[in-house]
Amino acid sequence: MNHLNISNLFSVTGKTVLVTGGSRGIGKMIAAAYVTNGAKVYISSRKAAVCDAVAAELNAEAASGGSCISLPADLASAEGRAALVSALSAQETSLDILFNNAGATWGAPFEEFPENGYDKTMDINVKAIFMLTRDLMPLLKANATKEDTSRVINIGSIDGMHVPIFDNIPYAASKAAVHQLTRVLASKLAPEHIAVNAIAPGFFPSNMTQFMMESEEGMKEFESTCPLGRVGGPEDMAGLALFLGSRAGAYMNGAIIPIDGGTVLGR
Ligand SMILES: NC(=O)c1ccc[n+]([C@@H]2O[C@H](COP(=O)([O-])OP(=O)(O)OC[C@H]3O[C@@H](n4cnc5c(N)ncnc54)[C@H](OP(=O)(O)O)[C@@H]3O)[C@@H](O)[C@H]2O)c1
Repeated sequence: MNHLNISNLFSVTGKTVLVTGGSRGIGKMIAAAYVTNGAKVYISSRKAAVCDAVAAELNAEAASGGSCISLPADLASAEGRAALVSALSAQETSLDILFNNAGATWGAPFEEFPENGYDKTMDINVKAIFMLTRDLMPLLKANATKEDTSRVINIGSIDGMHVPIFDNIPYAASKAAVHQLTRVLASKLAPEHIAVNAIAPGFFPSNMTQFMMESEEGMKEFESTCPLGRVGGPEDMAGLALFLGSRAGAYMNGAIIPIDGGTVLGR
């Protein structure tokens, strides 16, 4: 077998993957990319009916060997995380790739920012990643080798790298925390043969960015700040997500990778 052949180097066939927040937006883009390329993908989010329907939709489009299984849970709560870990552990003895993607934002002016908005943002964006990764360690360690590490891939944001254009201050702080959590875990988990990296998206169409897509003024402002002048799409996210999960990305560790058309650079 030629290991440098693109279909071997970037293969995710046969991998077991968990994508939190895999029921829509960026998480669904990642789940679809993996199912299409022969991985067994678990998706988790709060709305069970949506999660089940998306798993059925992705199964209908799956390539040979690829499949999608719905495991709904509220990952902002300890009970929800425990239920997910126990359901996954009942079905799998190992996990190759964990995408910590589920997240939320809350926009409000600084002077009026509600405490529950702050807590909601931090609980799902930061605490859930820390706790879920901790509790999935036995599964992540099971298949990990020095040459082909298991992967934890956190979804940060360019809002954790620059000052965002919107009043979402705790969100920006939460994403900076995701990036630093990524670096620290990358160093701490490396002896277990687990690599940890973060994807920092710019603007991708999703529920989270719907309010902006609907605003002509907001889109004009975005286009003026993105050097490539367009939003990201499924192929853009799939390309990076597949690279980071495949043999091709095995030596990446502790990287925070912007995928934003250059937005974080400014123009
Ligand atoms: N879209 C962008 O432009 C952009 C840019 C930078 C970073 N990001 C990041 O990318 C990730 C995905 O965002 P998105 O834009 O795809 O947003 P989205 O469309 O709102 O999707 C969020 C996903 O997370 C799930 N979720 C939210 N709270 C949850 C909870 N407590 N427990 C379990 N699942 C939960 C949602 O499902 P339920 O509601 O059913 O739970 C949904 O599947 C987030 O971390 C976000 O911060 C997005």
